[in-house]
Amino acid sequence: MKPLDYNIYLIGFMGTGKSTIARYLNTVYGMETVEMDQIIARREEMSISDIFKVYGEEYFRELETSLLSEMQTKTNMVVSCGGGTPVRSKNVEQMKKNGRIVLLTASPETILERVKNSHDRPLLENNKTVSYISGLMEQRREIYEAAADIVICTDGRSKKQICDEIMEKLFNL
Ligand code: S3P
Repeated sequence: MKPLDYNIYLIGFMGTGKSTIARYLNTVYGMETVEMDQIIARREEMSISDIFKVYGEEYFRELETSLLSEMQTKTNMVVSCGGGTPVRSKNVEQMKKNGRIVLLTASPETILERVKNSHDRPLLENNKTVSYISGLMEQRREIYEAAADIVICTDGRSKKQICDEIMEKLFNL
């Protein structure tokens, strides 16, 4: 595949499969992947949970914004955003400048199933219920949908099906 002259930004609620799909696009298309949470944790030498605990959410959000600025000079990357990255409108503006925004969705039940055994999401720790997930998802729905160039449902679908749909929709934009 010809290198893209833009970046693909994967957005969506926690547990919608952003990291998994980014890895798959890396394997299949050789696109370089940027896992925002992982880079932030590595640079700070702290887990995301500890960053939230020690410095607070706002500090973490600043780190996300500055990492996105670094992406402005790059192309043909798959950026797996944190679930809250698009909540700041300036982040969405940046993504739109040199990218296409792909929103991954899943039902609260699917999300609960995917996140129930992990402990690296401070916003869901002690809140792992369908009703909490639905509530936070509803608060963010409009923001996610307004940011997205394309929307892909991931419930019950394979990585290949999801990636094929992403590529098909991107090429038809
Ligand atoms: C967050 C999502 C997490 C991580 C942080 C906050 C959010 O990323 O950035 O815990 O606000 O939705 P994932 O969506 O990769 O779990």
